[in-house]
Amino acid sequence: MPVSSYDAIATLYDPWSRSVTEDVDFYVAQARKAGGPVVELGVGTGRIAVPVAKAGVHVIGVDDSEGMLGLCRARAEEAGVSDLVELRLGDLRRPPVRETVRLVTCPFRALLHLRSDEERLDALRAVYRLLVPGGRFVFDVFAPSMEDVEETNGRWIEREPGIWERADWDEATRTLTLSVRDDDGGSTMVLGWLGVHEWRGLLERAGFELDALYGWFDRRPYAGGEVFRDRAWQWTSATCRL
Ligand SMILES: C[S@@+](CC[C@H](N)C(=O)[O-])C[C@H]1O[C@@H](n2cnc3c(N)ncnc32)[C@H](O)[C@@H]1O
Repeated sequence: MPVSSYDAIATLYDPWSRSVTEDVDFYVAQARKAGGPVVELGVGTGRIAVPVAKAGVHVIGVDDSEGMLGLCRARAEEAGVSDLVELRLGDLRRPPVRETVRLVTCPFRALLHLRSDEERLDALRAVYRLLVPGGRFVFDVFAPSMEDVEETNGRWIEREPGIWERADWDEATRTLTLSVRDDDGGSTMVLGWLGVHEWRGLLERAGFELDALYGWFDRRPYAGGEVFRDRAWQWTSATCRL
């Protein structure tokens, strides 16, 4: 497994994403409704997986960063739910999961790490194969607004005390080069964004049927508008066809 760009910032990840809490209850509710096991792709440090396990749902977490998985393991132990959090090192395009499940999730825009439609389709088709008939794939992605780009482009911003983040947006290629650092080190990663219609097209090509599209984790309807000029986060959920 090649070294992940998250390995260098694994210990920085939780303090860096401390303010991201709005999605937790949403994913916990999805997991409760589906029942376990739930597969979480890009499980990271267990920010979502551990609350899901604390709700009594078995999680199979896949990630290609050993550093992130190590922290997830520790977090699950500390929360007393290790028996419900099963971690597997692997690529989300080829998840090392033989089980079929009712719910696969990919929270906090981990799909944006995939850079081409070929990679995205590989991942979506892999998810499809993991689901039982009627199963659901729930994920969130974003596309930046003009304001987001203008406010942040090329500037180091102190996201949390002592933790600096820089976003370099390339609207022509729709890629975001995201850097994060503190006094001890940092990492840079490249994310690729798409519009809602394009995600929908890829989902359909992979065999999914879209059953809900929301603009935020409180389930407000996605308001759409100009697809590549939407503000911040959107998430979407898809139901696998029989
Ligand atoms: C933004 S973090 C999200 C972590 C966690 N789901 C959360 O909500 O906090 C993205 C995660 O996806 C993982 N990741 C990125 N590309 C991946 C790939 N191709 N296969 C498996 N994991 C990947 C990273 O290592 C990282 O842990």
